[in-house]
Amino acid sequence: MSEPSQATAFGQLGGEASVRALVDRFYDLMDLEPAYAGLRALHPTTLEGSRDKLFWFLCGWLGGPQHYVERFGHPMLRARHLPFSIGIRERDQWLACMAQAMRDGGMDADLAARLEKAFFGTADWMRNRGA
Ligand code: HEM
Repeated sequence: MSEPSQATAFGQLGGEASVRALVDRFYDLMDLEPAYAGLRALHPTTLEGSRDKLFWFLCGWLGGPQHYVERFGHPMLRARHLPFSIGIRERDQWLACMAQAMRDGGMDADLAARLEKAFFGTADWMRNRGA
């Protein structure tokens, strides 16, 4: 595999292996931490499929290879989240879980702060319930 370009968040993060490690930590925390139990309850019993999909999606979202689009076409992320009731509480659990996963992985603080902002925009757009 060639070195990922440093011009993208994908490259700055360290490429596919780093994105996979982030996603794995995110779902491990979701499984372990009582603070994320509400978010965990929305997901299937086994998280293997969720891990793969988020990994494929984030590679492209961060400016790397478009694995998700190659498999499933346009992400239509908001539509795909409509079966789940997502309000402020679910949004904030998702964001806190991801922020913790980024910290645990020792990500560069500036990059983590940038990604937290970008994740907020995407997570907030996924809300389909008022409160
Ligand atoms: C706002 C709070 C969020 C909640 C409560 C939530 C919840 C969920 C749930 C329950 C699933 C189904 C998992 C499965 O079928 O295995 C899912 C799928 C997914 N989520 Fe989220 N999510 C949230 C935010 C996000 C964000 C911010 C992103 C991306 C940055 C994201 C990316 C994805 C992707 C790519 C999938 C797979 C879609 C598919 O192909 O079926 N989610 N999410």
